[in-house]
Amino acid sequence: MNASYEKYTNGSSAALTSKRLEGKVAIITGGASGIGETTVRLFVCHGARVVIADVQDKLGRSLCDQLGAKGAVSYAHCDVTREEDVKNVVDFAVAEYGKLDIMYNNAGIPGKIYPSVLNSDSEDFKRVLDVNVYGAYLGAKHAARVMIPAKRGVILFTASIASMCCGESPHAYTASKHAVVGLMKNLCVELGQHGIRVNAISPGGIATSLLRNAVGLEKSTLEDALCTSAVLKGAVPRTDNVAEAALYLSGDEAKYVSGLNLTVDGGYSTTNPTFKMALEKLMS
Ligand SMILES: NC(=O)c1ccc[n+]([C@@H]2O[C@H](COP(=O)([O-])OP(=O)(O)OC[C@H]3O[C@@H](n4cnc5c(N)ncnc54)[C@H](O)[C@@H]3O)[C@@H](O)[C@H]2O)c1
Repeated sequence: MNASYEKYTNGSSAALTSKRLEGKVAIITGGASGIGETTVRLFVCHGARVVIADVQDKLGRSLCDQLGAKGAVSYAHCDVTREEDVKNVVDFAVAEYGKLDIMYNNAGIPGKIYPSVLNSDSEDFKRVLDVNVYGAYLGAKHAARVMIPAKRGVILFTASIASMCCGESPHAYTASKHAVVGLMKNLCVELGQHGIRVNAISPGGIATSLLRNAVGLEKSTLEDALCTSAVLKGAVPRTDNVAEAALYLSGDEAKYVSGLNLTVDGGYSTTNPTFKMALEKLMS
């Protein structure tokens, strides 16, 4: 038998269900809410020590209190658009836990929705790029600072299906998520030589506070709309779908995966039903 398969057959099933991030140290930006919060919870379940980096101090601290058994979770105020904050949170993780294995650049904002570029607000455009792209760049930069000497590490980004599907999100948001994927791929090439893997996850719509506030709908109404427009039926899109993808990409199971933009959208981005809908309308 090929030696690399032996580990799957010589133990009990416990080996397959063990804590997949045991001993790892992670920073999750935007970890106080939504996708980030669920990922914090999942990573802690899998044995990671996690630093929640966010600007929502009350939420972040309360999550910490809920999960804080044996000092496994810490909260650090970190505005990802401020280099000093990002530098400090990376230094804090290393000082507190001795190293940094996983940097998950997840913090993001949607920006405002405008009917046309003509009446869009240029300051809003800059703000979205600042948080979603510059913030992600700073996270990667300061993670690389400590990962390069260690010759290992995982840098992860939350992009969006707006990095592939255009016309459904505001211009600033779509531009920012395309940029995140470009940044991820460029970093993958540079940092691969240091043993650092760099990947992104592109979720479809999920009824987190980000999307609820952006479209002004309640959770259940928004989830109904997401399910109606979904390609994959029988499942409500939830943050744990993304957290599970982050767990995979952060763990040793993905040890040869780098440069991937992993879509978690139930197949939504594979299709464009507008022509079919126009035909159906004509025929009805
Ligand atoms: N919800 C969706 O439909 C969806 C779809 C695709 C991608 N995403 C992306 O997922 C990521 C997480 O969003 P979410 O849906 O969980 O929303 P969320 O609003 O629940 O969480 C975002 C978190 O980012 C934090 N944040 C915002 N600005 C920050 C800053 N300057 N510094 C530090 N933290 C900051 C917020 O405080 C919040 O805790 C974002 O990057 C978003 O673009 C969301």
